[in-house]
Amino acid sequence: MALPEISRSMLKNSLVLGLFAIATVGLVAALHQATAGRIANAEREAQVRALTEILPQSSYDNHLLDNSLQLHDPLLGSKSPQTAYIALKDGKPSAVILRATAPDGYSGAIHLLIGIQADGRLAGVRVLGHRETPGLGDKIELAKSAWIRNFDGKSLSNPSEDGWAVKKDRGEFDQFAGATITPRAVVKAVHKALQYFDANQEQLFAAAQVKSNG
Ligand SMILES: Cc1cc2nc3c(=O)[nH]c(=O)nc-3n(C[C@H](O)[C@H](O)[C@H](O)COP(=O)(O)O)c2cc1C
Repeated sequence: MALPEISRSMLKNSLVLGLFAIATVGLVAALHQATAGRIANAEREAQVRALTEILPQSSYDNHLLDNSLQLHDPLLGSKSPQTAYIALKDGKPSAVILRATAPDGYSGAIHLLIGIQADGRLAGVRVLGHRETPGLGDKIELAKSAWIRNFDGKSLSNPSEDGWAVKKDRGEFDQFAGATITPRAVVKAVHKALQYFDANQEQLFAAAQVKSNG
């Protein structure tokens, strides 16, 4: 039995709409995929740049990105696993670069890359991502101020326990004019990363060597 004209027209419109919806979803998915890929590449590039800034090329002879571990520890500031890169020189661990998070920035989590030499001194710290306020909290970025370089060469015992705070909290590190929360969060996160390294250095380096040998 032939469909009445109106039903045929409705069926046709529904089919057209359905196809249009499928095409739109496909397009959005493809765009999302392409953007996610570009963001992942940009993050990887930023990370490689930060890695090479933190550790002088002469201090290792392996491919850092190929010698990584996933770490789970509250001292690294996140419930998600954090990546660590082990630097080797002549087969021996010379440094570790930890990804860590300061969960308590003014506008949420601040993502850090923290380089620690095998002797426990900080090789350097860089900010990989944050949402702090431009002109206030964003001075943690090296592009905005040299503040982050104050960590270079510091260790768990230099300054001593009390010194690992901003000056406003009677510590050694400067806060920014009108912005104490951001630097306080970063100082705390770097201190905790040093505590993590102190407690786990042996396992960390042993795991890395097993990985590089096998
Ligand atoms: C709109 C706005 C944005 C702010 N952004 C930041 C920020 O990114 N980082 C920060 O440390 N403080 C920021 N502050 C200031 C903090 O609220 C706080 O006053 C400051 O960190 C000083 O903290 P203290 O009172 O513990 O010393 C902002 C304040 C306002 C009103």
